[in-house]
Amino acid sequence: MTVASSGIAGDVVRWQRSHGRHLLPWQNTRDPYRVWLSEIMLQQTQVSVVLGYYDRFLARFPHVQALAAAPLDEVLALWSGLGYYSRARNLHRCAQDVAALHGGSFPSTSEGLRRLPGIGRSTAAAIAAFCFGERTAILDGNVKRVLTRVLAFDADLASSASEKALWDRANALVPDTSDEMPAYTQGLMDLGATVCLARNPNCLLCPLQASCRGLVQGDPERFPVKTRKLKRSSQSLWLLQAQATDGAIWLEKRPTPGVWAGLYCLPVFDSREALAQSLPESARDDARDESAFVHVLTHKDLHLHPVQARVHRKALRRQEGGWFTPQQWPALGLPAPVRRLLGG
Ligand code: ADE
Repeated sequence: MTVASSGIAGDVVRWQRSHGRHLLPWQNTRDPYRVWLSEIMLQQTQVSVVLGYYDRFLARFPHVQALAAAPLDEVLALWSGLGYYSRARNLHRCAQDVAALHGGSFPSTSEGLRRLPGIGRSTAAAIAAFCFGERTAILDGNVKRVLTRVLAFDADLASSASEKALWDRANALVPDTSDEMPAYTQGLMDLGATVCLARNPNCLLCPLQASCRGLVQGDPERFPVKTRKLKRSSQSLWLLQAQATDGAIWLEKRPTPGVWAGLYCLPVFDSREALAQSLPESARDDARDESAFVHVLTHKDLHLHPVQARVHRKALRRQEGGWFTPQQWPALGLPAPVRRLLGG
């Protein structure tokens, strides 16, 4: 093993080698397909949730060409439950671009990777650092927290100029040599996930405590500074759970763009009246309101009101959609709340 860099980079690399995570299934490989798949899944989702999905994806799509050749519906079905479905649509488009435009090999620089669908600056840097040893910084949410604390970087990250300044500071910290880039990059992620936590940083366990300016100033939790508040809205939707006598449920593909784009969903209505209007008269009186519940999206709280109705297959007249039996549901891409309603 080579001698680690000095300073912050060296401390991160040494700590990663002795205390970091080493057994995650996307580690110990330099295959860009595997690393890319893991980084996309991990963008908004915890490691513990990703593990099962990652294995199932690789079993079904062992290489990028297999993913590129699959129908989008199948990709969405395998993604079902991970949320943020634009990731799955971009994943599929990205695989198709790699297969068609790059001969099946991912570009080997962060600049090249960033041109692909769904790969932002930090994800491109992570793939390039892990697979090709590129000396470039990552800056996802966890790493922003670690670095703003270490540097006592107090400029407001709501401003793009401050964000750019932090990228520059992050790039100035990377190790001197390529061979340390995988451990350094993973080390920053591991510190953010296991030590430098948002509410209670475990400074006593941190390899950077001696150099952490946020700690010296006495209040590391003050960082990162970001003023802009997310504007949240809420919306009520009524979901028609129309069931035929054989147990089949009517499902429709959601339009793109919009909530749950491309997934199969119960018919959605803005009001209880509109839902009732869509039913044949014979089914209206017996339609049953189930308990409403809230489904939280990034920018919106959805108040969902399920309504159950018994309908003969031929009596329901709707444009797009079809009857799907319980045996067919597992293979469909369904939004998590719909899957839960259907008992899956
Ligand atoms: N989050 C984002 N990338 C990750 C990785 N490579 N390992 C663990 N957590 C991560």
